[in-house]
Amino acid sequence: MAKLGLITFTLVFAVSLRLGSADVFPHHEALDEAGKYHLYWKFDEEKIELEAQVQTTGWVGLGLSPNGGMAGSDIVIGWVADGTAHLTDRYADGNAQPIVDESQDWELVSGYENGTHTVLRFNRKLTTCDTKDRLINND
Ligand SMILES: *[C@@H]1O[C@H](CO)[C@@H](O)[C@H](O)[C@H]1NC(C)=O
Repeated sequence: MAKLGLITFTLVFAVSLRLGSADVFPHHEALDEAGKYHLYWKFDEEKIELEAQVQTTGWVGLGLSPNGGMAGSDIVIGWVADGTAHLTDRYADGNAQPIVDESQDWELVSGYENGTHTVLRFNRKLTTCDTKDRLINND
């Protein structure tokens, strides 16, 4: 019984460590039914910071749409190659391949790949002068 107690404690400890990292991001949503794409985000006065944790070793795309459609959406595409994370800010004016935005407003904070998942953290100012980017409101 004592042994079982110890195992339980270890598990609880591991779980609380994981919750600890989620505390940094008060908002969390699984973006697909299979739970392969998790998005965490938080706001401060100036910016929004997002962390995408995706079960892929390919690229990660995130569309921020004013109306749920592809047209008019602000699209961030990121990937990790040779241990280095990359990010591009694009926009879509139709359902064609998103065009690279002249003004790159999303800033890469960090990113890594661990064999099963790609994790990318990036942020942007809450308002920018680039009309192709959607305004994000903290509400
Ligand atoms: C890779 O990272 C993801 C997201 O943080 C995590 O859920 C997964 O367990 C990690 N996998 C390995 C093999 O470390």
